[in-house]
Amino acid sequence: MRVVIKPTAQDAVQFCADVFSQQLLTKPTSVLGLATGGTPVNLYKELIERNKKGDLSFALAKSFNLDEYLGLAGTHPQSYRYFMQQQLFDHVDIAPENTHLPDGLADDPQAFCNQYEHSIKDAGGIDLQLLGIGSNGHIGFNEPTSSLASRTRIKTLDPKTIRDNARFFSEDEHQPHLSITMGIGTILDSKHVLLLATGEGKADAIQATVEGALSAMCPASALQMHQQATIVIDEAAAAKLSLKEYYLAVEAEREKLTTF
Ligand code: PGA
Repeated sequence: MRVVIKPTAQDAVQFCADVFSQQLLTKPTSVLGLATGGTPVNLYKELIERNKKGDLSFALAKSFNLDEYLGLAGTHPQSYRYFMQQQLFDHVDIAPENTHLPDGLADDPQAFCNQYEHSIKDAGGIDLQLLGIGSNGHIGFNEPTSSLASRTRIKTLDPKTIRDNARFFSEDEHQPHLSITMGIGTILDSKHVLLLATGEGKADAIQATVEGALSAMCPASALQMHQQATIVIDEAAAAKLSLKEYYLAVEAEREKLTTF
């Protein structure tokens, strides 16, 4: 696990944007795993800027999102399809047919989940998977006690997640309690996993992910089993790490290596 601690949330965003730029430059046909939530919004803003300047292109890329609310159409303002259109897809040169999200209105959701797994495999697998993290340690909608080997399936949301996400819904708006999410096994199949977390509200989850036991109680701790997992956090999200000095030393050594 590589732990990158940046002074501010915006520095963490810049680092992640650089990872995306490098990925798309090295392999323009990359398959990108994308995430929703408050955290990636500024990252997507930065990617849009870079795309407009001609510094990176999604023209040959494909994308697969982690999750979607079960029961919401892609045109619903709270759906993750809608979020992705607003926050990224409508502003960059990605081909609409190359963007994939779980279908919240699938007639047979479980059959859809199996098909989603096949589609990812047929595309060649995910090269770079962006993740946020829930305050309960979830990745995608893999809530605590999710199987660490799980595949795309229907998941019931943890009441804590429902409370965390209530800020996106108005009071009289129906907030779904079910989702379709890639599984932890699906996420672990990605070649590179990039987890971005900022703010003190994520400090406990980050501590459990990086320094806690490998446990389904903290789904993100499964990344300890991944060969290329990069955890990018700001000072606030790093506040509860006991080996902070070590992670900073590792990064300082990496910088020397790339300078020589
Ligand atoms: P947030 O959500 O970015 O809105 O904090 C992250 C997540 O739940 O994965």
